[in-house]
Amino acid sequence: MRSIIDIMDLTVEELDELIACAMDIIKNPSKYSEICKGKKLATLFFEPSTRTRLSFEAAMYELGGNVIGFSDSNSSSTSKGESVSDTVKIVSCYADIIAMRHPKEGAPLVASRKSDVPIINAGDGGHFHPTQTLADLLTIYRKKGGLDNLTIGLCGDLKYGRTVHSLINAMSRYSGIRFVLISPKELALPGYMFSDVLDRKGIPYEVVESLDEAMPKLDVLYMTRIQKERFESADEYERLKNSYILDTEKMKLGKSDMIVLHPLPRVNEISVDVDEDPRACYFFQALNGKYMRMALILKLLGLGNFRAKEEKKEYIKNRSLVCKNPRCITSTEQELKHEFYLADESSNTYRCIFCESEQKLEK
Ligand code: NCD
Repeated sequence: MRSIIDIMDLTVEELDELIACAMDIIKNPSKYSEICKGKKLATLFFEPSTRTRLSFEAAMYELGGNVIGFSDSNSSSTSKGESVSDTVKIVSCYADIIAMRHPKEGAPLVASRKSDVPIINAGDGGHFHPTQTLADLLTIYRKKGGLDNLTIGLCGDLKYGRTVHSLINAMSRYSGIRFVLISPKELALPGYMFSDVLDRKGIPYEVVESLDEAMPKLDVLYMTRIQKERFESADEYERLKNSYILDTEKMKLGKSDMIVLHPLPRVNEISVDVDEDPRACYFFQALNGKYMRMALILKLLGLGNFRAKEEKKEYIKNRSLVCKNPRCITSTEQELKHEFYLADESSNTYRCIFCESEQKLEK
């Protein structure tokens, strides 16, 4: 039984197979229309969602399966104080596969340890969002003809934007990739993304504040929303909320074959006039999300034609450290044992397995 919590739970071969499966679904939908007959997907959404939840549901219906679940945690027993662990233990008695979104970082990982059926992380706090990345990858693949040799600009909230973290992780495994990280200093990418991904793998990147300066270099521009709900200070959100607005004037600075992606919802960071530009691919991206979720459901239920195998990650663990991140699931699941993995041996740096927050131990 396999869960997908992080995009790195899938090997590059598996990503390629998921893309191939999605392309086959697009070409031959009738071949797949009954393949999940008798199977149930549960969607447990403890945070708001339109695209992710509905595309999971549409995906399961188009595979001939059924859907149960909730989209408002106030209507579930969580509002009575039930833990994530107990909720999942129960739901795994009723469903064959579960998609879960939760405001606490690491909640889907906790769920996967308790569940008897596969768990798919549909977004955990400001941490990861692997299935959005699947949508992003299929969009880039269909528009650019492949996933290698691209300069990708990520613009907006790189700190709390979970889609950004998962996309960088995924793209960092393809060849000839460069990143341009465009954000105000306050919303820069978390330190672990530099140390554990970009610097460790020697991937070329630039950190800039100006979108205008970055535009001419980009093959892909990935715009993001400033994540209001994750700010500790309302004043800071007010100050940063209009940091970037992509409009038709700015689009003139981009290459003629650049593509613009956005996980959506947008607030005001892409003006509606840009929608008419053939380079605007964000609605197409939302459609691709459904096909990739169909492919992922098939893979996790053992129903598609998949051959690649996961690589087992082996970590050195430490169970005596305590996570202090208030956004981590360890802050609310009282029974949960805190657990850290050794991220860098030379500096004796450990990270929480649930939310990636860092602690250094004396040697
Ligand atoms: C994103 C998310 O939830 O992280 N939305 C989505 O799933 N398509 C992006 C966002 O909310 O800004």
